[in-house]
Amino acid sequence: MRKKLVAGNWKMHGSLQQNAALLERIKAAMSGLTCDVAVCPPYPYLGQVQSILAGSVVTWGAQSVSEHAAGAFTGEVAASMLVEFGCRYVLVGHSERRALFGETDEVVAAKFAAAQKIGLIPVLCVGETLAEREAGMTAAVVTRQLSAVLNRSGVAAMASAVVAYEPVWAIGTGVTASPVQAQEVHAVIRARVGALDVVVANGLRILYGGSVKPQNASELFGQADIDGGLIGGAALVADDFLAICQAAN
Ligand code: PGA
Repeated sequence: MRKKLVAGNWKMHGSLQQNAALLERIKAAMSGLTCDVAVCPPYPYLGQVQSILAGSVVTWGAQSVSEHAAGAFTGEVAASMLVEFGCRYVLVGHSERRALFGETDEVVAAKFAAAQKIGLIPVLCVGETLAEREAGMTAAVVTRQLSAVLNRSGVAAMASAVVAYEPVWAIGTGVTASPVQAQEVHAVIRARVGALDVVVANGLRILYGGSVKPQNASELFGQADIDGGLIGGAALVADDFLAICQAAN
């Protein structure tokens, strides 16, 4: 059985004070939870998160990473730096990175490889836009995004990675993919990996993201191929985030 994972993507939100309050609430609630829980704050707060969560079972990660190991890349952050701040995970290919910062499938695959090389667990985000869904291209788009990573890193790399299916039209919109719609795409992802290695595919955690709320989390997490969630807006509200974690129990 795959252990569920609920990861909070804080995006560009937070302050030292807000983060401390939220993290203390999460830490205090962990004894009642059986799923894995992670938070992904903005870079400057990784040190704060590391010190507050030290010794707790809550893990953390970053929201992006450079594909380069070091060098003249002003404004970028290397995977080795994330490791120094105790990160376990790093998101790669979030749709906002793809759409707003021009990250191509190839760049995302390079980031995935850079993260994994140093021992971070990449959370590969994939998902179609509304126009792509309406054009019947959902499976093709998600498969293309996934294949860029498989072609570069090989299927064995998926044994120490997480995939997050996040339909772009559901992110921050309040519109969630129905459990059936989400399950359908999760099954496509698992089948694509399974065509190369069934054991790796069966062990792969595939998260759903896009307007997950306490009200819809249980039904989503109840689907055969949905192994938890990547939570944006609701991850900033302790009660909501913890209710979603409860739904993954
Ligand atoms: P949302 O964001 O939960 O606010 O839709 C999810 C994400 O972008 O990871």
